[in-house]
Amino acid sequence: METLQHDVLIVGGGGAGLRAAIAVAEEHPATSVGVISKVYPMRSHTVSAEGGAAAVISSTDSLEDHAYDTISGSDWLADQDAVEVLVENAAAEMLQLEHWGCPWSREPDGHISVRPFGGMKLERTWFAADKTGFHLLHTLFQTSLKYDEIFRYDEWFVTSLIVEDGRCQGVTAIEIRTGKMLSIGAKSVILCTGGAGRVYPFTTNGSIKTGDGMALAYQAGVALKDMEFVQYHPTGLPGTGILITEAARGEGGILVNNEGRRYLQDYDLGQPLDLNDPDHPQKRTMELGPRDRLSQAFIHERQAGRTFEDPAGDYVLLDIRHLGEREIDRKIPMVRELAVRYVGIDPVYEPIPVRTVVHYMMGGIDTDTDGATSLPGLFAAGECACVSVNGANRLGSNSLTEILVFGVRAALAAVSQAVEVSSPSDQLLEQSAISEERRLESTLFRRDGGGETLSGIRSDLQETLEEGAGIFRDEPTLRRTCATIAELKSRYEKLSVGDTSKTFNTELVSALELGAMLEVGEAIAHSALARTESRGSHQRTDHPHRDDDHFLKHTLVHRGEGDPTIGYKDVTITRWPVGERVYGRG
Ligand code: FUM
Repeated sequence: METLQHDVLIVGGGGAGLRAAIAVAEEHPATSVGVISKVYPMRSHTVSAEGGAAAVISSTDSLEDHAYDTISGSDWLADQDAVEVLVENAAAEMLQLEHWGCPWSREPDGHISVRPFGGMKLERTWFAADKTGFHLLHTLFQTSLKYDEIFRYDEWFVTSLIVEDGRCQGVTAIEIRTGKMLSIGAKSVILCTGGAGRVYPFTTNGSIKTGDGMALAYQAGVALKDMEFVQYHPTGLPGTGILITEAARGEGGILVNNEGRRYLQDYDLGQPLDLNDPDHPQKRTMELGPRDRLSQAFIHERQAGRTFEDPAGDYVLLDIRHLGEREIDRKIPMVRELAVRYVGIDPVYEPIPVRTVVHYMMGGIDTDTDGATSLPGLFAAGECACVSVNGANRLGSNSLTEILVFGVRAALAAVSQAVEVSSPSDQLLEQSAISEERRLESTLFRRDGGGETLSGIRSDLQETLEEGAGIFRDEPTLRRTCATIAELKSRYEKLSVGDTSKTFNTELVSALELGAMLEVGEAIAHSALARTESRGSHQRTDHPHRDDDHFLKHTLVHRGEGDPTIGYKDVTITRWPVGERVYGRG
């Protein structure tokens, strides 16, 4: 049997994965790197990031402010040592991309343009119009092509981690084109598989974001951290969930309800608002409040009957008309393109209907600031990981920065572990592939199906998570969601893949993805049930206040035989004492 080996194997070919691969190739040229991805790299979800990447560049800004905004925005759940690493390395990563050819938008005098973003005190979001992810991913992909040491496995699906002698020694994977199951051995494996927005029914996330990497780690005994923190973005297009970037508000867009009122002035977004003071900073920045608070305000408006009703989901209006056609086309052309194409509205002349939409997982695989997990040989970076820099609420534009900074760190740490160990034996790799093939044959391919359908289980999972673990949660609905997910896992045990062909068996891939989604959904619901406080994006109506005495802690969820087990670990506080959340230009 054919076996494949690399020093470092990266699972995922998006921003974090490619940045990690380049870091290995540049810093350790003799190291062999494999990048395995279920899609061609340029189809990774990084490509659809729009608004930008945060890094201090202006002389009036400071690392201190970037760190403080991130920590306060996280509702004090971010690890402050990790945030320091993020902000200290951010600008160097942006400049590195510039040198590799990333076309950052610029001012007429040649300076880098930066725009305001939610929860950030000052303008520090670098952008390439509103197609930042597209340009960033292109830049990384093209740079990666320079290195012979980087070997790609495009359109391969990883089914398990190979764990032997207490360390991760590679993966088993299906080559989707041929249906062949193979092992790829590695001295270190880095998971860079992105998030899991697809576990919810309405999301900005592409259909590939099914939490595969999180589930691989969870099944191998590694804890998932802070999974209860799910970010809803306030402005998705009704119907499709396509993101209308926060940059539209950063450039001056305003949100209005069905009474034509700029309703955010009625909410506490982290700063007391004196409505009689026309110069109050929040008056200028309220649309740039943190995403959790804006999404919660939308739900209150809906409950009060002040949203527009629509079968595709109630909505409010995002008005950017006052920016004018020239500015819209220069700074946020894709907003116009998406609105025209997907809702038939030209925002130069009419406001855009928008609603809340699942966008990002703050939680993920528990790692340290080098991306190392509790399993030797296994690392993680990007959205699938929880370092944690985002805590209970991520600030927009910190995630592109995170994939770069922590992609590099995970890569360097993975290499230093790799040089300490020898390659897995061919026998281990052969045996792993054989037993994994048998496992799939005796489960997904040999069941009678019991009348279960993939889409039935998947939509039941999505509905129960939205109902129980949506923007607002409480104990009864969370308990129901946990019970429903346990039933769905039993129903999944009966599921059968009808398509037995080898070539591009997309039904098999979807069934494997669904297995991962169930694991992630279970972790979200149980973590949310156990956290009896409200913090950031986790709002318990039955426990409406933040409770630092008991919950200034990260949740760690481990997979169990029945229900998962929940534990906690301390948040790292370095220089910023725990306080209230504030934002806006003070
Ligand atoms: O709205 C946006 O452009 C999203 C950015 C982000 O999630 O960082």
